[in-house]
Order: sequence, then C-alpha cells, then structure tokens
Amino acid sequence: MFLNEHLPDDTGDLKELILTISRLGKSIKDGFLLNQGVADTQNMYGETQVEMDKWADKVLVDGLRNLPFVASLSSEERDDVIYCSKDGRYSVTFDPLDGSSLMGINLTVGTIVGIFENPDPFRPGSEMVGAMYILYGPLTTLTYTIGKGIHEFVLDKDGNYLLQHENLIVGESKIYAPGALRKEWLPFHTRFIERMEKEGYKLRFCGSFVADVHQIIHKGGVFTYPASIGKDQGKLRLLFEANPMGFIIHHAGGSISNGDMDILKIIPEKLDQRVPIYIGGKKEISIVEEEKKKEASL
Ligand code: F6P
Ligand code: MN
Repeated sequence: MFLNEHLPDDTGDLKELILTISRLGKSIKDGFLLNQGVADTQNMYGETQVEMDKWADKVLVDGLRNLPFVASLSSEERDDVIYCSKDGRYSVTFDPLDGSSLMGINLTVGTIVGIFENPDPFRPGSEMVGAMYILYGPLTTLTYTIGKGIHEFVLDKDGNYLLQHENLIVGESKIYAPGALRKEWLPFHTRFIERMEKEGYKLRFCGSFVADVHQIIHKGGVFTYPASIGKDQGKLRLLFEANPMGFIIHHAGGSISNGDMDILKIIPEKLDQRVPIYIGGKKEISIVEEEKKKEASL
C-alpha cells in the first residue's frame, strides 16, 4: 500500500500537506549529491551550516509557503516564523536536516516535521495533529502519525512511498543513547545511566537524534540529551526536535520527558527554546523521573 492510499481522505488538507512534504523529502534526498560543501554562515545557535542544511530548508520553505492551507512555517534554520496564508489552518515546524554534521561522513540524517492545526506554532506538542520524519539512510523511509498509530514507508525506485510497518510499537530491547559530556552530567542523570548499565542496557549513540530515536522506536530503550553543568536546558530544540519526535513516540506507546514532566505539555516561549530530553519506552522514562524526584527530595 502506498502513502497516498494509507492516509485517510477525511483529514482534508492534512493529507495533502503530508503528501507534499513526502515529495519534498524526495527532492532533499535527490539534492545530496549536489550540496555537499560547507557554507560559511551560521544558524542562530552559532552552528556552522553545511550546504545541505540551507538546501533542505529552502526546499521545504519554497514547497510549502504558497499552499493555501499553510498558515505558518518555522524552521530550525531560521530566526523568525514565516507567516503564510491568512486563511491557512496549519502551522508546520521543522528541522530540515537533523544530524547534518554527519553528512560529510555519509551517516544517516533526517528531516523532522511537526504539524499544528493552529496558525500559532507556540503551542504545546500534545496539540499537534500530525508529525513525521524522513530518514535518509541506506533506504529513505518516512514515518508519520496523525494520532492513530505510527506507520513507516520506504521510498521505492519510482518515487512512491510503500508501506513497510503499520502501527509500530516501541520495542523491548535494552538500548541507551546518552548524549552530552559525561563529566558534565548532573548526579541524578548519572544515577539513571548507571541504573541502565546495571540492567544490561547496551550503548548506542550515533550523533543524529532522528536516527537514534528511530532505532529506539524499532528496538526499544532510551535516548537522552540531558541538562548538564552550564547547560541547564541541554542542547536539543523543543519545537523542531523534541515535540515532533515526542508526539510520534507517544503514539507508538512510548514517552518523552525533560526529567520532570511530559515535554508535550510544555508551552513554548520562544522559537529557539531548548529542552533536556529523555525519549523512549514508558518504563525507562518513569525510571528517570523517579531518579530526578529522589534527588529533589534529598
Ligand atoms: O541537531 C542536533 C544534533 O546534531 C542531534 O541530531 C544529535 O543528537 C546531537 O546534535 C549530537 O550532539 P553532540 O555532537 O553533542 O553529541
Ligand atoms: Mn537537529
């Protein structure tokens, strides 16, 4: 079954929006051979942009901004929200190319997208009506949810996305992907990781958030990019990384937390807001919240 057959017709423009993004994902994939250089500009986080970041951002903005049902676009690569159609219903937030520092060495990167039925993107992630990611690995895959399970498709040689997994559920394997510098971890986080290690969790961290979370969805376990000494909000971004992937994992039976609460309940205050992330199986997320609570009561 193809993506266009799988998406229900009664979602109105949401179906068209997701199909458009799926086609733009193919354009991004096709652009990899042409855009491998390093750009001499920086994004608002002070990171050097590789050419592909800018290319992927442009593909998405150019491909979405004139759709009559799109109210606003917010990209990790831009400093401001782009307001589009006055009559638009959907806000789209995206990280055009997550893990792009790995492009130069040919590791897996991806596009992460969140969709709100609200012209205002500063809404809690739980209000999203859809989220998806496109992973550019040995295969190009697209995983989406519109709140009814999560489903994975593979891009075939004719440019169609073919259903490969329906109703994916977070696996049972014991994997942990611990971000940030170990010497800067906070005590509760260290205790959490040590607990994982004692319980036989195996280390896997590739440096591409979207690929690491994809692995956790399929296999199980937990990805973390925690708060650390001097970085009390961690590294990853609430609107562009945490919320869409959190919404997806939530609909695969998992959860996402900042250590204290469900990230999907946070009301964003600014576009470039960062958040400490714990994302994975429900069991692992409850253990980290338990360790954090213990620390608060000491
Ligand atoms: O987008 C930020 C990002 O590239 C994520 O994809 C990844 O998980 C993280 O940064 C890796 O950070 P670090 O280089 O600190 O391990
Ligand atoms: Mn990213």
